[in-house]
Amino acid sequence: MLEPKTTELTNDLIEKIQQAKQFLEQASRVACFSGAGLSADSGVATFRDSETHALWSQFDPMELASPEGFADNPRRVIDWYNWRREQLSNVEPNPGHTALAKQRDLVQITQNVDDLLERAGLDTKRILHLHGTITHDHCNHCGYSEAVELSQSPSYRFCKKCHQGEMRPSVVWFGESLPDEAWRQADQLCRNIDVLMVVGTNASVYPAAGLIEIAKRHGASVVIVNTQASDASHLADIELIGKSGVILPSLLEGLQLNSF
Ligand code: APR
Repeated sequence: MLEPKTTELTNDLIEKIQQAKQFLEQASRVACFSGAGLSADSGVATFRDSETHALWSQFDPMELASPEGFADNPRRVIDWYNWRREQLSNVEPNPGHTALAKQRDLVQITQNVDDLLERAGLDTKRILHLHGTITHDHCNHCGYSEAVELSQSPSYRFCKKCHQGEMRPSVVWFGESLPDEAWRQADQLCRNIDVLMVVGTNASVYPAAGLIEIAKRHGASVVIVNTQASDASHLADIELIGKSGVILPSLLEGLQLNSF
């Protein structure tokens, strides 16, 4: 497991973490909304973050993460996701995932398609994957779904059930709608919590990012964990600037958070 340097816990940050801890201790209902920054400390590339070789700075999202891109060149899309799957098979959950996974009753609303929260031990019932999951493919004709082996995921293929459709990654592409049930639960939860933790997201992609405004509008306090300002900074009651792999273990230590 990658251990981000805890020397980044400056006195100022420790003080702010203590403030945020008080918010959380006083809250009866909490949820966590996360993005690619949560997995960055595991070595997984983010999408548009300036600090890393962000995916969208190297590749064209519309070519690789859209129905049109898949229709235009399905083999290129499958090969790109299989490259990401191979990367994912070689990384581990970081201390941020582990700290969140210890919170057995805290619902994780995540934009991430990786399985690092699951691998950190969190029950899948507690994880709402708003943008789907890279661990499965499904048929674009009959919907048949199958898990893929991340380290050796299959190349472009037709559905073995209906023999008509093509198998595609079960992630939400640009222009596609979010999974109904995951969105319904996330939206409902964000209207009924006291604190929303917002971890490692630029908060620039809707409708997911809209959950922060929904929570705020319904009276929740917002605690952001990010290495830099984001499109949600103006909504923050407390903004903890630093790596989630460093901040979350300190922030959540000794707490037992609940979403219900
Ligand atoms: N700890 C905390 N935050 C971090 C870290 C870290 N170690 N490293 C990077 N970040 C922050 C960046 O500052 C940035 O705000 O994580 C955020 C990553 O932003 P994006 O790359 O835009 O990722 P995300 O917000 O998850 O994107 C949302 O966009 O492309 C789509 O479907 C894709 O789910 C994704 C969605």
